Amino acid sequence: MDTEGSLLSHIVYSQQEHAAFGGVVPELASRAHMRTILSTIRTALSDARCSLCEIDGIAVTAGPGLVGSLLVGISVAKGMAIASRKKLIGVHHLEGHIFSTLLEHKGFTAPFLTLLVSGGHSEIVLVRNLGDYQVLGRTRDDAAGEAFDKAAKMLGLLPSSGSIHGGRVISEVAKDGDSEAIPLPRGLIKEDTFDFSFSGLKTALRNHIRDLPRSTLTEQLPDIAASFEMAIVDALVAKTIKAMESLRMHSVTVVGGVAANSTLRTKLQMEVARRGGSLTHPSPIFCTDNAAMIAAVGRFHLMNGRESSYDLDADPRMKL
Ligand code: KG4
Ligand code: ZN
Repeated sequence: MDTEGSLLSHIVYSQQEHAAFGGVVPELASRAHMRTILSTIRTALSDARCSLCEIDGIAVTAGPGLVGSLLVGISVAKGMAIASRKKLIGVHHLEGHIFSTLLEHKGFTAPFLTLLVSGGHSEIVLVRNLGDYQVLGRTRDDAAGEAFDKAAKMLGLLPSSGSIHGGRVISEVAKDGDSEAIPLPRGLIKEDTFDFSFSGLKTALRNHIRDLPRSTLTEQLPDIAASFEMAIVDALVAKTIKAMESLRMHSVTVVGGVAANSTLRTKLQMEVARRGGSLTHPSPIFCTDNAAMIAAVGRFHLMNGRESSYDLDADPRMKL
């Protein structure tokens, strides 16, 4: 990323090796980071036609996340920063997601309301200003992405798809299904809170498929996927609209891996517009984890004179 905030290159290495295990295996993730991080950085620099000495600072995710992967990233970033005498900036992963909208919408400004939905988090955040956040609601159990991932695993969809993104696989299957076919719960939807709960939905799905013969399950798969997807989307949209109305906030964004879901985008767009607001979101490639959003936060902190010390440590449970 250059000083104006334009992206010079961006490379995403997707770890497909987890698909066979039906979910992310932490040790495999750390080892894949170890093997690929330097060649990925080298490719990014060469695509940008840029050498390390032309860089002002090196941003790296400091947390939250899988500690093994964080440690590999931080160690490499420290090594590069020390060797090339550059500034090191530890970045909060969720702040990265919040900034992902700005990658393609340069003039977009705070205040805005963000629905942040990933594999590990489901939060509604009031962004008063960049760097000034208030978490209004969060999940009390599973994150939305986690619920998608567990459902895809339960339905046996992951190994054959070759993807670790259960949500993407479910939404693919859901395209041919009826979202009203199977009644599933919308956790906390009627309660006076901005929090989410998706564990009841997961249990309801497990109960629904438990006694189904294999052939019926295969036949019902598109309906099950569509009903499950809509149950999650309904809960996410309802709470975001509730926050929008109670704070009288008209500018809304949706970010994180689950924001790549087109049913969620379409429904949220419609409900936000119906109340006179506008929804802004990144392209799907910038919804799922990527280094560009971390660089955008790094640039912001650097411009505001903030940097990390070389003692920077990984914090797997870092709070926003
Ligand atoms: O932000 P992200 O890439 O990683 C984390 O920070 O967790 O989000 C990954 C999550 C996974 O749970 C994945 O199933 C979900 O995003 N996801 C989707 C879609 N693409 C990825 N969920 C619903 N629909 C999609 N199209
Ligand atoms: Zn993420």
